[in-house]
Amino acid sequence: MDKKAEHERQKIIIDRLSKVVKDKNQTYFITTFGCQMNAHDSEKIKGIVEEIGYSEAKDELSADLVVFNTCAIRENAENKVYGRIGRLKKIKQKRKNMKIALCGCMMQQDIVLDKLKKSYPYVDIVFGTHNLYKVAELIETNIETGEPVYDIWKTHKEIVEDLPAIRKYQFKATVNIMFGCNNYCTYCIVPYVRGRERSRPVEDIIKEIKALADDGVVEVTLLGQNVNSYGKGLDSKVNFSDLLKEVVKIRGIKRVRFMTSHPKDLSDELIDTIAEHKKICNHIHLPVQSGSTKVLKAMNRGYTKADYERLLDKINSKLPNASLTSDIIVGFPNEEDKDVDDTIAIIKKARYSSCFTFIYSRRTGTPAAVMETKADDALIKKRFNRVLEAANQVALEESKKHLGSVVEVLAEEVNDKKGDMLTGRMDDFSLVHFNGGAELIGKLVEVEIVESKGFYLIGKRVNLE
Ligand code: SAH
Ligand code: SF4
Ligand code: F3S
Repeated sequence: MDKKAEHERQKIIIDRLSKVVKDKNQTYFITTFGCQMNAHDSEKIKGIVEEIGYSEAKDELSADLVVFNTCAIRENAENKVYGRIGRLKKIKQKRKNMKIALCGCMMQQDIVLDKLKKSYPYVDIVFGTHNLYKVAELIETNIETGEPVYDIWKTHKEIVEDLPAIRKYQFKATVNIMFGCNNYCTYCIVPYVRGRERSRPVEDIIKEIKALADDGVVEVTLLGQNVNSYGKGLDSKVNFSDLLKEVVKIRGIKRVRFMTSHPKDLSDELIDTIAEHKKICNHIHLPVQSGSTKVLKAMNRGYTKADYERLLDKINSKLPNASLTSDIIVGFPNEEDKDVDDTIAIIKKARYSSCFTFIYSRRTGTPAAVMETKADDALIKKRFNRVLEAANQVALEESKKHLGSVVEVLAEEVNDKKGDMLTGRMDDFSLVHFNGGAELIGKLVEVEIVESKGFYLIGKRVNLE
């Protein structure tokens, strides 16, 4: 596929379609399920549908075009989507012109597509993770034929650049640095629905971030399932540290974040790079998944408990102020009480400032789906609660450490409960509510931390002229 020609072709379709859509004042509404990758994909879809001329509806039920960008990571993420499509059936019977489009990770699975065709024939447009750039073409085909359009690519082709993304915040943005995943953790569906790992060339990423900075962005988050393996397969020899060093040079960018870091690939060089550059935030999302070497092996994570502990020691010595966050799975096949004890021990050693804790969900097609499992749901729930309690306790203690310190906070939004307060994040990702007005949004503000509420901090602005 010729990348440029394809881009041009889509532009022509957008133009053509806009004549139809704009005249009718049509509206759209997108709901995103899933991770930051999906949220960023939704920004791109938004960019395209707004260019076509759809304006954002105030809610899903009144929209002419409803888009669900779906997630396949756990069964309940999928069930939520089916529930939402089901709810639209009656509405669509009344409002014949409403179009329903489904996309994202769930759609990449054959069983999902079969189920949609059979049980949800009123869905109009279905596409996957590899071809969202052609959403305009799919809408056009659906309008022209009046038939459902299903277009799922099994693998990716070229990465089509320069999609007009619409971001939620003016001052911060997410940027894909790589797509897909090659790690095949045995529980995880991502490699099957997002395809093989591929990195974007440095030049394309830098060009995008420069344009964002020119547009007022001060904080970028670099996205990838395993950012630490960035660069593999590119023509030029470049790694994630090299990329970071280029990003921090961009004028206007004040903070650089990234996620996710896979523990098996976190290099000493990267730790040094974070330590050397003030703009690179002191926060590493370093999902451990389990603290038990036996379980980690069955998960195919590529590190042992001792490896992870060594990594923690290294980070602590070189980045004493860095905060760590994590993802944890409880209830993996054959997990026993003593494995859960190991997980709790790791939480206490790592001192995570926050943890996402999940109950294992069996995903058809993954290696873990056919592994034996003994524990029943009630026991798993009990273990889950133990892990959650330990994680919450550590997070609370960690958040108290900030009391009395004066820190820089990026003001992000007006607090939804108290209109005279703002909400923002510290360099280490801690959430802070503090006094201030909307004119500060997008600015770095000095704040003294005066109270810890567990999941967030209360701050008071200092150095006011
Ligand atoms: N690439 C990231 C994770 C992306 S998925 C990494 O490797 O860390 C986000 C999180 O969802 C994972 O870290 C894991 O904790 C959780 N997850 C993935 N598959 C799951 C499953 N089948 N059941 C429960 N949780 C799962
Ligand atoms: Fe899934 Fe593992 Fe890849 Fe993360 S690294 S996306 S958990 S396969
Ligand atoms: Fe993300 Fe869910 Fe897909 S976690 S990559 S949206 S399966």
